[in-house]
Amino acid sequence: MYKVSGKDISIECEYDKNQKKVWCILPITLPTSKIRLKRNGNEPIAPRNTEITDKDYIEWQISYRDPNGKLIEFGESLGKALNNDMNLKMEIKQVVEEYRNVDTFDKKFTIQRIEDKKHYNEFKLIYESTPILRLDDLTDNYYIDIILKQKQKAVGYQAMVFLYIPCEKVLSLKNKQKLIGRKAYQNEKAMVFLNNDHILGLLKSFLVASNTHRGDILNILRSLNINV
Ligand code: ADE
Repeated sequence: MYKVSGKDISIECEYDKNQKKVWCILPITLPTSKIRLKRNGNEPIAPRNTEITDKDYIEWQISYRDPNGKLIEFGESLGKALNNDMNLKMEIKQVVEEYRNVDTFDKKFTIQRIEDKKHYNEFKLIYESTPILRLDDLTDNYYIDIILKQKQKAVGYQAMVFLYIPCEKVLSLKNKQKLIGRKAYQNEKAMVFLNNDHILGLLKSFLVASNTHRGDILNILRSLNINV
């Protein structure tokens, strides 16, 4: 169990042998968690007060291990998919070879400040421009964004990986029906799937995000008996 502020926030992920994908159960009504609902690309919505539509997405800042080193979410999904699919190992090795020497996002790009000509009263107006890497040719209209942020307590940049899942593809845990066309119930949980294409997309994203993420992921792959 993984607790934050005394609350169990662990996410279960299980492999479905018939469908050949992993299903994870996500809380969708906790706005401070790593899971949010988003509309029009970037606008967070309150699912308890807003009817969910087929244009909305779940945004999931997916983790790979908890503070104790236990594999969770992406890490757990990777392990379970590998145990059940003999072809995945080879595909993972190919992705690692393709990405292991690519310059990482956090070193290659910077956040830029652009001074506007306009003023606001006595103040100069400055815009900040943040680079985002998007992988959007994933199946089922999923996509991944890697976003650069200033590190909070250190010098340099930090890369954040977000998976976007169309609500159209998400089922309510309660009745296994789609979420769309209604508001979310109190403490509602939803089922989302990760297929091999999504897993490989996340793998590429963490390998390119930063050296720290790359090192972590290579170690996880080694712990899963992949020789990388
Ligand atoms: N570390 C583990 N998961 C992460 C994510 N999704 N984004 C940034 N850092 C992470």
